[in-house]
Order: sequence, then C-alpha cells, then structure tokens
Amino acid sequence: MRGSRKDEGGSLEYWEETKLMHRLGLAARSTMMTGAATGAEEIVVNGTVAVCDPMGGLYLPESGLLVVSDLHLEKGAAFARRGMMLPPYDTIATLNILSAVITRYDPKIVVSLGDNFHDRKGSEHLPQELRSLIGAMARGRDWIWINGNHDPDGTVDLPGACTDELFYGGLVFRHEPSLISGPRGSKGEIAGHLHPAATVRRREKSVRRPCFASDGSRLLMPAFGVLAGGLDLRHQAMRGLFDHETLVAHLLGRDRIYSVRYANLIG
Ligand SMILES: [Fe+2]
Repeated sequence: MRGSRKDEGGSLEYWEETKLMHRLGLAARSTMMTGAATGAEEIVVNGTVAVCDPMGGLYLPESGLLVVSDLHLEKGAAFARRGMMLPPYDTIATLNILSAVITRYDPKIVVSLGDNFHDRKGSEHLPQELRSLIGAMARGRDWIWINGNHDPDGTVDLPGACTDELFYGGLVFRHEPSLISGPRGSKGEIAGHLHPAATVRRREKSVRRPCFASDGSRLLMPAFGVLAGGLDLRHQAMRGLFDHETLVAHLLGRDRIYSVRYANLIG
C-alpha cells in the first residue's frame, strides 16, 4: 500500500452522502468487519509507519498507538446551553465510531488530539452513560487527552491523563500545528485543530471530503467529531505548514482512503 496513488480510480460519488450518515454507516458496518482494516492507507511520517483509516483515526502499528482528533464531544449540548437547540445525538454517534476504530485496531494507547469536548463544560456535564462508554473503551489501555483550544483545562472524571503535548516514538502530538521548523516544530508533528478537507473533481462534479494531510514530515488529522466541520487544505490558514511538492491529501471515502496529490486538488 505504501506510496501508492489512488487518485485515478474508485467510487468517489459515494462521498456525496451527508457526513453524519456516512460516518454512522461506517460505524455500523465496521462492527461486522474482522481482521485487517480494508481501505486503509499506509504512509510514513518522519520515518514512522502510520495507517490512515477511512473512519478518521491514525494507527501507528510500531507503537500500538491510535490517534483521533477534534472529537468535539457534547457540541450539541454546548449549543443548547447557549439557547440554540441541535439534535442531542452527536456525542453518542462520535463515540460509536470511536469504539469501532478501537475494536478494529485494539491499540495499546489512544491519543485524543485536542478539542476533545466542544467547550470547557463538556466533560464535567457528560451524562453517566456516555462516561461509562468512554471508560469501557479505555479499559486495558493508556489514554491521553491532549488539551485543545476549545477545552484547554483538560477533562473531568474521565480515565487517562491530560497534557498539552506528547513526545513519543520520534513524533510529537499537539493540538495546534507549530510554525517552528526543526525537532520541536513541524518535523514529526501530528496535529489537529484545522480540520483539513479537500476537494477533487470527479466526473464533472466536485467532491469535498475531510482528509489527513501530510508532506511526509508533518501530518494534520481530519476532525473526528460528526458535527465538526472542515477547512479546505488550500485555505490561507494552512499556508506555510507543508511542502506542497510532497503534500498528499488522504481523503476519507465511504470504505477506503483516496490519496490525491496537492497539485491535483481543486478549491
Ligand atoms: Fe477543532
């Protein structure tokens, strides 16, 4: 799989489904899947093998570490606290997908890369049944909550440790990508925050999907939360983060990753 290019084939029309239904469908399907993750794409980031999963998680097989980013749990509840009523099912939907990814890879370590909750009150007010669901997922493995800009104070009464950044296995995990080059900057950095998405043209139609983005040195994670939006990889907020010559968007398809070079994206 490593180094392969898949931008010329596949059923990209599937991508036009709504994000929520798409992700819910994946979660339901994945419970029936066994064995290796079909449709995943293996890449290398700063010398470390990383598997981009179409459900939005990044698995590092050498360390048994699974990364997810920008869960934005309790986003519906956060809006309700401000008087804007949204359907209250986003947290259970996101956690069901997370549970499916964890079942697929059985990681030793889970790193949730910040914006774990949509606001500072999210984890404190999390209903007990959802708290128990996270507890069940964390049982028998280490769990690291990286603090994000939405939830800088860490989590309340949940398993695992909270920290601003984690250095592990030659990589650095932090919420916001750094603009500093070198070992404490972009080299080997796994970050979230910007919710990258990319657009490709397929059969006279443009299709936009969340994506992993990596130039082989740094990797930006797609937002995992079902209500989290996306920012185009060509947006000026991404400027200076990547070497565009080697940058590839790994778009989340229905059941596989579609890897497209930056030069072939539209936006
Ligand atoms: Fe976020």
